[in-house]
Amino acid sequence: MGKSKQMIAEQVRILDMGDQGMGIGKDPEGRVYLVRDAVPGDLVDIEVKKHRNRLGNGRPVRMLESSSWRTHPFCSHFGVCGGCKWQHMSYEGQLSYKFKNVADALKRIGGLPDPQVRPICGAPEDRYYRNKLEFSFGNSRWLEPDELTREGAPDRNALGFHRPGSFEKIVDITHCHLQPEPSNAIRNAVRTWAKEKGHTFYDVKNHSGFLRNLIIRTTTLGQVMVTLVTGEDLPEALEQINQLLLLQFPQITTLYHIHNPKKNDTIFDLDLHLVHGPGYILESIGQLQCRIGPKSFFQTNSIQAARLYGFVEEFAKLTGHEIIYDLYSGTGTIGLFLAGRCRQVIGVEEVPEAVEDAYLNASLNQIKNVVFHTGDVRKMMMEGLFGREGKPDLIVLDPPRAGLHQDILPLLIDSGAPKIIYVSCNPATQARDLKVLCTAYEHRISQPVDMFPHTAHIENVTLLELKS
Ligand SMILES: C[S@@+](CC[C@H](N)C(=O)[O-])C[C@H]1O[C@@H](n2cnc3c(N)ncnc32)[C@H](O)[C@@H]1O
Repeated sequence: MGKSKQMIAEQVRILDMGDQGMGIGKDPEGRVYLVRDAVPGDLVDIEVKKHRNRLGNGRPVRMLESSSWRTHPFCSHFGVCGGCKWQHMSYEGQLSYKFKNVADALKRIGGLPDPQVRPICGAPEDRYYRNKLEFSFGNSRWLEPDELTREGAPDRNALGFHRPGSFEKIVDITHCHLQPEPSNAIRNAVRTWAKEKGHTFYDVKNHSGFLRNLIIRTTTLGQVMVTLVTGEDLPEALEQINQLLLLQFPQITTLYHIHNPKKNDTIFDLDLHLVHGPGYILESIGQLQCRIGPKSFFQTNSIQAARLYGFVEEFAKLTGHEIIYDLYSGTGTIGLFLAGRCRQVIGVEEVPEAVEDAYLNASLNQIKNVVFHTGDVRKMMMEGLFGREGKPDLIVLDPPRAGLHQDILPLLIDSGAPKIIYVSCNPATQARDLKVLCTAYEHRISQPVDMFPHTAHIENVTLLELKS
C-alpha cells in the first residue's frame, strides 16, 4: 500500500469521466489518476493528493493542451459552491459522457454484450431547471483567499449553500443558475433585509441565531412557495419579513414559517405555520396536476420528469387491462401518470407523507384505480404482495441510488410479470440488478434522461421483457 504524499504527475492525458464526475487520466508511464476539474481530451500536469497503489487523486496545476469539450464556467460560484460541477465541459460533451456511463455500466457491470441504448434525452433548458432550492443562513461565510489577507474583519454572515466537505462554512450565493426567478431575487432580498436589520444568522456550532433556512419552490405553472425556517421565534421580525416578501414578490402564492429549535435541519417533524396562500403549489406533469406541500417530495426537474414518465408510458404499451405495480412509488407520480391507461395501479412506498401526497394527487386528478401501500418493498414482497393484490402485468421500479435489495430480485423473477420497467438514478447499481434479472428477462432497450445538467447525475429507463 503506497503512502499518502504530495507530488506532481506530468503529462496526464484525460481519457474519460468517472461516474463520480472526476476525470480519468493516464501519464506516459501508464499510471492512472482521478483528476478533479478535468475534461476528457485535456493534457495536464497534476498535483497528486493521494497515492494509493497506482491510483492517484489530484487536480490540474498546469494546462498543456485544452480539450475541445472545455468551456468557460458560466457561474461566478463555480468551483466553490459544489453544485454544477461539470460547467467547465460543454453540454454536448456532458451528454456524450453520461451516455457512455450508462452504456458502459450495462456492458461491464450488467454483462450485456450489446445493449440497445437510445440517444440520451438532453434537457431543453440546461439552466434554471430546478423547482426547489434550499438555502442556509450561517455566520461563518466561506471566504475567498484574497479576503483572508485583506485588512479589517470581513462580514461573516451568509445565505447560500454549504461549502462541500464543511458543515459550517456557507458560500454566499449572489446568483444561482439552477432555479428560475424570483428565486435569486427573493434570496437576495431576504439577506439584504436581515443584514440591514442586524438579525442573527445561524451559528451551527453553538446552535443559536434567528435565521436558519430558506426553501424556495417554483413550478412551471408560475406558482411560488417560500418557507422561512428560523431557530428563534421573533414574532415582530417575522411579521416584517413576511410583509416585505408579500409586498415585494406578488409571485409568492404560498408562504410558510417553521420554527426549528432542534439541532438538525430536517423539517419533517416540525409544525408548519401558514402565513399566506392555500398551503401548496400546483405543478403539472403532462396531463397530471400535482399538489406540492412544503414537506412533499417532488421530482426537481419538472420538464425532464414529464419526459421520463413519457418514456415509461411508451415502453409500457398499455392496453387498458393491466395491473401495474409502482414499487418505490414516492408521491405516486409514475403510477398516477399511467393510471388512465390501465386497470389498476398498486404503489409501495415507505414514507407515509409521500403516500398521503399520492392519495391527495389521485383525488385532485379524479383517479380512482390506484392504491398506495405504506411499507418496505422487500418486506411486502416477501409477505406475498403479488399473491394478495394480483399477478402483475407490469412492474415499474424506481429505487433510490443504492438500487434494489438483493432479496427481491428472485421474487421479481418469480412474479412472472411480462414486463419490468426499471427507472434508475444510478447506472452502476441498475446494471448490477439487471445482471440478475436478465437471467429471466431480456434487456430490450434503455433510455437515458438528463435531469441534472452540469452534474454527473443521469437517470436511465430500462425495459425488460420476460424471456419466452
Ligand atoms: C427515486 S424515488 C422514487 C420517486 C417516484 N417514483 C417519483 O417519480 O416521484 C425512491 C423512493 O423510494 C422510497 N424508498 C426507499 N427505500 C424504500 C423501501 N425499502 N421500501 C419502500 N420505499 C422505499 C423513497 O422514500 C423514495 O420515495
